[in-house]
Amino acid sequence: MPILEVKNLNVSFKTIDGVVQAVNNVSFNVEHGEVLGIVGESGSGKSQSVLAIMGLLASNATVTGSIKFLGQELVGVNTKALNKVRGNKLSIIFQDPMTSLNPYLTIKSQMTEVLMLHKGMSKHDAVIESIRMLDFVGIPEAKERIGLYPHEFSGGMRQRVMIAMALLCRPELLIADEPTTALDVTVQAQILKILRDLQTEFKMSIILITHDMGVVANACDRVNVMYAGQLMESGSLDNIFYEPQHPYTQALLASIPSLEHEVERLATIPGEPPNLLALPDGCVFQGRCHKVHQECKGGDVVVQDFGAGRFMKCNLMQNLTNGINQGITSNVVVN
Ligand SMILES: Nc1ncnc2c1ncn2[C@@H]1O[C@H](COP(=O)(O)OP(=O)(O)OP(=O)(O)O)[C@@H](O)[C@H]1O
Ligand SMILES: [Mg+2]
Repeated sequence: MPILEVKNLNVSFKTIDGVVQAVNNVSFNVEHGEVLGIVGESGSGKSQSVLAIMGLLASNATVTGSIKFLGQELVGVNTKALNKVRGNKLSIIFQDPMTSLNPYLTIKSQMTEVLMLHKGMSKHDAVIESIRMLDFVGIPEAKERIGLYPHEFSGGMRQRVMIAMALLCRPELLIADEPTTALDVTVQAQILKILRDLQTEFKMSIILITHDMGVVANACDRVNVMYAGQLMESGSLDNIFYEPQHPYTQALLASIPSLEHEVERLATIPGEPPNLLALPDGCVFQGRCHKVHQECKGGDVVVQDFGAGRFMKCNLMQNLTNGINQGITSNVVVN
């Protein structure tokens, strides 16, 4: 059984201008011990998808569909039941550590509280375990520094503290929403290495959200590509990097800076994503797709299932017969 099963997830927000369709009929699984990357431009629904999993959406949100974590349905359950899972078996780290750390409390009291609450540890044991975890994520002199306040750490060290906190209860699934964007490249690489090590050491599953394809290449086993609230393509890291099928994935990859060739400006995808208050009929990427044709401008978009967890939502018929893939196994039409 996958650790997480998301089926037909929809997240919409009521606003004075109308209903914002932020996540649209998204389905995916996370397997035990795998790192799933979610990529896509700003506003594509990456954060709202995982906030729905955590039950942390804004109050104007409506969620439909199903989110099963370790077999337990999370959509529609009460806060008490969610709190049993959150911070314990399911944990999230955000881009900005200050959103999850309390500036008025020492790291020691914040970390030990979590362990005493969720694991019923004594204060003494909780302190030992907290120091061990700070040590693991590479905080030097953890024994002394655990007594400091969040602002007494540098940005990179604060991010490590936050990761240590998220990991205290040994979550089975860790969600990391742009955990390295605010950091410089060296620290970014160190944090990604820590996540990878943790995944190996604790056999944890990770959902890693990023708009950086370089981060994906370094850290993920599988990739979901989102656009305008929809899952456009999904596949293994190699599938997505070496044979991307969806014109949107291809365009995203074309915008990665190359290390070999200096580029003056990054190729960006021309045009703007559609208005989530008034999505077009047909494919949501039609306005920017260089392969657009009449069929894409109305009606259903085909989901092409290539097998082995690989699929894309696009009307362009692809027939993958290069040995790596088994070709199209079925065509499912969704709205
Ligand atoms: N409370 C809200 N009310 C109305 N719209 C919202 C609300 N919260 C989020 N949205 C909208 O939902 C859409 C998807 O947002 P989301 O945060 O998932 O984007 P993202 O893919 O994480 O982007 P980024 O890379 O910038 O973090 C955006 O258009 C956003 O404006
Ligand atoms: Mg986001």
